[in-house]
Amino acid sequence: MRRMVAEHRTHPADLILPAFVREGVDAPVPISSMPGVVQHSLDSLRAAAVEAVEAGVSGLMLFGVPEEEKKDAVGTPGTDPDGILQVALRAVRAEVGDALVLMADTCLDEVTDHGHCGVLDSEGRVDNDATLARYGEMAVVQAEAGARVLGPSGMMDGQVGAIRRALDAAGHQDVALLAYTAKYTSAFYGPFREAVNSSLRGDRATYQQDPPNAREALRELALDLAEGADMVMVKPGLPYLDVLRTIADRVSVPVAAYQISGEYAMVEVAAERGLLDRERAIDETLTAFKRAGADLVLTYWATEFARRSRERL
Ligand code: PBG
Repeated sequence: MRRMVAEHRTHPADLILPAFVREGVDAPVPISSMPGVVQHSLDSLRAAAVEAVEAGVSGLMLFGVPEEEKKDAVGTPGTDPDGILQVALRAVRAEVGDALVLMADTCLDEVTDHGHCGVLDSEGRVDNDATLARYGEMAVVQAEAGARVLGPSGMMDGQVGAIRRALDAAGHQDVALLAYTAKYTSAFYGPFREAVNSSLRGDRATYQQDPPNAREALRELALDLAEGADMVMVKPGLPYLDVLRTIADRVSVPVAAYQISGEYAMVEVAAERGLLDRERAIDETLTAFKRAGADLVLTYWATEFARRSRERL
């Protein structure tokens, strides 16, 4: 009877798998801070995409990890048609076609040598408007490589509008934008730094949101919607369920939550130590996102959860 009257359920189609692909490796490289998650080779990424499709996951959000010596101050690998993210987009597209919604991270931190989400001015500060121009170029290259949805995650002011205009001008009106609307400066991104080999100097407090502020997210939301966001996201997930609820109550576009690297690591490491029941904990976190109003959840457990929920039917 509990099953019958459950108010919320997580369906495999609600899930998007974030995945890392590393240039120049023949085999997947384990990420020690995220037990069970790897930096994929092109081959292992293709296989993971097929597994995600078979499990019923609906989307794949790709992050590229270029060779260290290719990173520079402006993030050249991000706009190189042969950059690893673009190569990976084409490879996955060729493997699974439209069976997965292919998404790309439109941000500079994976491709810059300083690790910031934007380009820097002469004082070493992130230059908002110069960054928008780079995002526009990246977006077009990613769309041309086969991305159907772009995820601008750098929290620059005006990024959604700038990317929308660049895409439209290049004939990519049908590429959608999943805006990272409320992205907080968070300690929970810790393991992601290893996942993308980032060497961030300083922090992101000048462009990401400050954890004490909830109302500010509504201003970010209004701007993103006015600039053309097709879907909006709150990130991290569990520490910001209140923000997710507030946003979900106000919009008519799909709302996503990103269960990030540190949230993943917390459960995996505690489970490794026998401190909690791993599968129950995973299921409960996903239920929490649905209860707080998420339509979509980006989670590193997407394929595993989707498989498990199908086995239970
Ligand atoms: C920025 C980006 C980050 C994540 C996704 N996109 C890192 C950051 O903003 O510091 C984090 C994802 C995770 O921690 O799982 N390109």
